[in-house]
Amino acid sequence: MTSTTDILTHTEAGVMTITLNRIARKNSITADMYGAMADALAAAEKDPAIRVAVFQGHETIFSAGNDIGDFQSKPPAGQDSPVFRFLRGIATFPKPLVAAVCGPAVGVGTTMLFHCDLVYAGDNAAFSLPFVNLGLCPEAASSLLIPQMLGYHRAAEALLLGEPFMAEAALEVGLVNRVVPPTEANGVAQSIARKLAAKPLSSLVETKRLMKKGQQQLVLQQMADEGASFGRMLGEPAAKEAFGAFMEKRKPDFSKV
Ligand code: COA
Repeated sequence: MTSTTDILTHTEAGVMTITLNRIARKNSITADMYGAMADALAAAEKDPAIRVAVFQGHETIFSAGNDIGDFQSKPPAGQDSPVFRFLRGIATFPKPLVAAVCGPAVGVGTTMLFHCDLVYAGDNAAFSLPFVNLGLCPEAASSLLIPQMLGYHRAAEALLLGEPFMAEAALEVGLVNRVVPPTEANGVAQSIARKLAAKPLSSLVETKRLMKKGQQQLVLQQMADEGASFGRMLGEPAAKEAFGAFMEKRKPDFSKV
């Protein structure tokens, strides 16, 4: 088991809540945090006392995506690396997954939501997919799932331009189920999760399986393809320039890449 206080897990009334708890670094996600979340999901899958899982952050920040320094110093090494274990974990988790999202949800902070069954957003939620701006490519099968949900042209706008879109726009395209005041988002997600947890687990699991089975393999294949490109691109000049610029708090110069 990976242990870190940057991820908190708590189980009550059949609901396991995973809280991103690294607010000083804007809940950016390190390899240890991915490992802890992957372990928690794997344990929850097997534990009959857990019927639903919830992801939540803080009312000011969901997640700034990958921790840029950690990603550079410990790039994911292969399909068994913590980030890929986590991504496969959310893509194949058989029980309902609920998320509460407030403030910025950057990169994987947004792409992980495409694997959640129900998403509740604070009205301050800002979703962004800055992969191109970082010299990278999409992950978490988002290059497949985002065009499916948004339609190609809106997906191209979100993925090629990488500009943030707000909670109301996310509601309009179906990425979130409801927009609520930020102080209420975690509570709403929790009460919906408890409502689900009171239903027959076998029916929840079978219904989710039937909804997802048509493209489960495609999703896993797309994740693997994206992962191979992402891993290669991390070491290339465009990403090095983007990450260097982030660390040095300057604008990146992509004129030579
Ligand atoms: N990785 C590492 N550190 C990060 C981080 C990340 N993804 N996101 C934020 N931080 C750090 C900042 O460097 C800053 O550190 P400092 O206090 O030592 O300067 C601290 O967290 C606070 O971030 P800051 O940018 O000052 O907060 P903000 O409220 O102005 O903006 C965000 C919040 C999320 C919009 C902004 O931090 C951001 O865009 N982060 C980068 C997101 C990103 O590109 N993620 C994709 C990675 S693949």
